[in-house]
Amino acid sequence: MNKRKMLGGLFLGFAFFSVAASAQQPLYKNAALPVEERVNDLLGRMALEEKILQLNQYTLGRNNNENNLGEAIKQIPAGIGSLIYFDETPELRNAMQKRAMEETRLGIPLIFGYDVIHGFRTVYPISLAQACSWNTALVEDACATAALEARKSGVDWTFSPMIDVARDGRWGRISEGYGEDPYTNAAFCVASVNGYQGNDLTSADRVAACLKHYVGYGASEAGMDYVYTEISNQTLWDTYLPPYEAGIKAGAQTVMSSFNDISGTPGSGNHYTMTEILKNRWKHDGFVVSDWSAVPQLIAQGAAADSKEAARVAFNAGLEMDMMGRCYDKHLEALVEEGKVSMERIDDAVRRILRVKFRLGLFENPYTPVSKPDERFLLPQSKAVAERLAEESIVLLKNEGGILPLQSASAKTIAVMGPLVDAEMELLGNWHGHGRAEDVYPIRKALQEEFGSQANLLFHAGCPFDGDDNSQFAGALEVARQADVLLLFMGERHNWSGENCVRSTIELPDIQSAFIAEMKKAGKPIVLILANGRPLALSNVEPLCDAIVEMWQPGVPGGKPVAGVLSGRVNPSGKLSVTFPRATGQIPIYYNRRKSARPNSGKYQDIPSTPLYDFGHGLSYTRFTYGDVSLSKTSVAAGEKLVAEVSVTNVGERDGAETVHWFISDPACRITRPNKELKHFEKQFIKAGETKTFRFEIDPMRDLSFVDADGQRFLEPGEYYIMVDGQKVKLEIHE
Ligand code: GLC
Repeated sequence: MNKRKMLGGLFLGFAFFSVAASAQQPLYKNAALPVEERVNDLLGRMALEEKILQLNQYTLGRNNNENNLGEAIKQIPAGIGSLIYFDETPELRNAMQKRAMEETRLGIPLIFGYDVIHGFRTVYPISLAQACSWNTALVEDACATAALEARKSGVDWTFSPMIDVARDGRWGRISEGYGEDPYTNAAFCVASVNGYQGNDLTSADRVAACLKHYVGYGASEAGMDYVYTEISNQTLWDTYLPPYEAGIKAGAQTVMSSFNDISGTPGSGNHYTMTEILKNRWKHDGFVVSDWSAVPQLIAQGAAADSKEAARVAFNAGLEMDMMGRCYDKHLEALVEEGKVSMERIDDAVRRILRVKFRLGLFENPYTPVSKPDERFLLPQSKAVAERLAEESIVLLKNEGGILPLQSASAKTIAVMGPLVDAEMELLGNWHGHGRAEDVYPIRKALQEEFGSQANLLFHAGCPFDGDDNSQFAGALEVARQADVLLLFMGERHNWSGENCVRSTIELPDIQSAFIAEMKKAGKPIVLILANGRPLALSNVEPLCDAIVEMWQPGVPGGKPVAGVLSGRVNPSGKLSVTFPRATGQIPIYYNRRKSARPNSGKYQDIPSTPLYDFGHGLSYTRFTYGDVSLSKTSVAAGEKLVAEVSVTNVGERDGAETVHWFISDPACRITRPNKELKHFEKQFIKAGETKTFRFEIDPMRDLSFVDADGQRFLEPGEYYIMVDGQKVKLEIHE
């Protein structure tokens, strides 16, 4: 038989076999079919008990979040929907997955989730710092590195990005989001979702994203955690919802419901937010997972009498998966039998979860290939992304007399002191996943490499993070007297911010402030370098310092980026994503406040009413001058687009990167609006002497409109202003 005939016969045989095989295998196992067909086929095969199991999430591995309540469930049913996976290797996960695939009737894979907030093992800066880089492309790259490490370690789904607009630095979780501004949180939300999910969720280096904490958690009263939030529908729509709408449009597969009570209806029992808005308005077709035990917490919040009612309230409100609450697994079957939960709602919820599992390719690839740690963790390219992001997140807050960058002639002896100098763990920040202190580039080592050949470095611990032990002050002062310049590394421990890490004041601890004042007696220039997870009120130490560098909590890059800034190897380009007040008493303080009835009155008696450092503040080692803003049109109809442009020249001797923030202002509207609103930003590298043009392509309906208390967007004709770098240019919108 000639070759051609043989091949033909083989082909026919294969075709017949695959048809026969697919004729035998259930439709939902046929990867060639559309996801919806597979979902419907599988759902139609499921019994109620199997459906309900899909709606639950337990844990697997050692829980590393001491805030999470309850004991791990020892006997995990093979048909469970999801597990939070605490290991960093896939073996345990694969063993559990094998049970799901082989011990259950339908072989539905589990989805494994974890808090990959700012890195899995290659930890990069905290989100609040990332936003100060104003580099969304770099943040997307960072999230992509986290996705790769997570998926290859057995995690298919991250509980990230956290996009809670936050304006109260006492709240520890301000570190986890992108600051005080809705547009900023929306922009970095989209970058994160794209970085995590990419454009093919089945790939071995992507994970499903989870927008959290839906919604308004950042408005927690007095900065406390887990408490009431007073949020009008107007503020819900114009401040807290925009980042979530952006994330849903970007294709985020899941959302996490929040702990907080939203003006009388907790986020995890809120039909308006989880169904009317998320499902009916925004057409989200993924699923909502509760925050940990948020379903039974409805009882503590007074929204349910018992766990059965909590299950009914949460589930009927649109919350699909109960994270460790043990309410759905216990009560949903009875609630269905009693007619208090409909089969339609059950099926819709299960459909949503199956949809995400199919999209992740878990039916075809339920197991994570085992790899060596060095094949996935701390890869050179991952560390390079983290280092660049840490460099670009650093904000130079003060530089009196240009003391920075340090000059070899005037910095022959450098004193390096403070509680952060040898505290690598603190530089990882909160929610550092599987990050390790040993991975962090030590400050001491970074400074020795940066300055060791040209300066004599004198190290001294100086003072503790907190408490009242000033026993080392005298010794430190002796060292300070020998030095030409003092580098004081001060700030917070990594667990002073993050979940349930509230501080009643945002000043530096007294012992640290006292230490700075004591070192001032040496009469030498002081450079204060801060590592912290929240904005700080620095009024009591700012006058004592010649320069202040906000390095945030940089992750594994540790001291290397800031060493580069101190030496001038790195020209700082960060700008604040959150306002730094003068005092805790100014909280809440943020740039986009609504207008005052008496703008020049209503002042504090005891301090200036302005912030110490504004949103968007950040110095450079070079100087940028702005040309005049120009508009392609100064009067347009609502549907007409236009372009605003401004040229920026680097008039200094150093190359540098500049971020241009474009704000809009609407002086008069039927609903009062903030003084100004960020609507676009762009960062460009500009060589010394070079000029670059920055453009804002304005779509009035998107950029000038406002939203009302029912979420209806509107654009009124009238006068608007486009604002950049202190300039205000009028734009008229006509009928
Ligand atoms: C925590 C946090 C949430 C996290 C979840 C799982 O309580 O509020 O952000 O994703 O539980 O760890």
